[in-house]
Amino acid sequence: MDMDMEVKGASAPPSKKADARTLVAHLLAVAATVLVLLWCVHFRGGLALRSLDNKQLIFNVHPVLMLLGPIVLGGEAILCYRSLPLARDARKKAHLALHAAGLAAGALGVYAVFKFHVESGIPNLYSLHSWVGIATISLYALQWTAGFLAFFFPGASPATRRRAVPWHAVCGLLVFVLAVGTAKLGFLEKLTFLQGPPLRLPKYGAEAMLVNFTALVVLLLGVAVVLATVTIDGTRYNTIM
Ligand code: HEM
Ligand code: HEM
Repeated sequence: MDMDMEVKGASAPPSKKADARTLVAHLLAVAATVLVLLWCVHFRGGLALRSLDNKQLIFNVHPVLMLLGPIVLGGEAILCYRSLPLARDARKKAHLALHAAGLAAGALGVYAVFKFHVESGIPNLYSLHSWVGIATISLYALQWTAGFLAFFFPGASPATRRRAVPWHAVCGLLVFVLAVGTAKLGFLEKLTFLQGPPLRLPKYGAEAMLVNFTALVVLLLGVAVVLATVTIDGTRYNTIM
C-alpha cells in the first residue's frame, strides 16, 4: 500500500503488472468457491435455511456463506482497486458494493450457524473459532461503516481522508487476514467433529482430503490477496544497511 494511494494509486488505471498479480487471486477465489460448494452440496447433502428433520443442512449454509462473503467477495473488493480497468469513482463504488455483499453474506452465514445451534440444542460461543469469528464479523462491519462514512457519505475532509486511508487499508487487510484465519479454525473444527463419533469419517478419505485441500486453497487465496495489495518499498530500509 502506498502512503499516498488516494492520490497516486487510485487515479491511475491498473497496471499490467498489478493485473497479473490479481489474476492468481481471482483463480484461487473461483477454486475455493467450487470446492466449498462441492463439499457442502455433494458430500454434506446440501444447503437449507429451514429444515425440520435435517438440521445439518442449516449448518452447511455457514461455511459456504463465510467463504463466499468476507473472503471471496471481500477479497475481490480489496483487489478491485488494482484489477478493474475503470475510472476511480467506479472502482470506489465497486469496492463499497462488493464489501457490502461480503458483509451481508457473512452476517447471514453467522445467523445460519446460530440458528443451527439453537434448533439442535447446541450451546453458543463455546469455541475459539466462534470467539474469533464474532470478532471478525464485528470488525468487518465496523471497517465497512468507517470506510463508508469517511470516503463515501457524508465523507471526511480531503486532509482527514488522506490521513485515514493508509489506516483504512492496513486495518482492512488485517480484517481480511483474520477472516482467513477464522475459516481455517472452522474447517479444522468441523472436520474433527466429522472424524469423531458417530460418523467417524476416514482420516485419509476423499472428504477429509477435500476439506483440507479447500482450507489450503483459502490460505493461498489469502496470501495472493495480500501480495497483490502491498507495495514492496525498498527505499524504506536504506538506513539499516
Ligand atoms: C469491510 C469493508 C472494507 C475493507 C475490508 C476494506 C479494505 C480496503 C483495503 C485493503 C484497501 C487497500 C486497497 C489497495 O491498496 O489496493 C482499501 C482501500 C480503500 N477503501 Fe476500503 N475497505 C472496506 C470498505 C470500504 C468502504 C465502505 C469504502 C467507502 C467508499 C472504502 C473506501 C476505500 C478507499 C477510498 C480506498 C483507497 C483506494 C485508493 O485510493 O487507492 N472502503 N480498502
Ligand atoms: C470468516 C469466516 C467465519 C466466521 C466469521 C465464522 C463465525 C462463526 C461463529 C460466530 C460461530 C459461533 C456460532 C454459535 O456459537 O452459535 C461459528 C460456528 C461454527 N463455525 Fe464458523 N465462521 C467462519 C467460517 C467457518 C468455516 C469456513 C467453517 C468450516 C466448516 C466453519 C465452521 C464452524 C463450526 C463447525 C461451528 C460450530 C462450532 C462452534 O461454534 O465453534 N466456520 N462460526
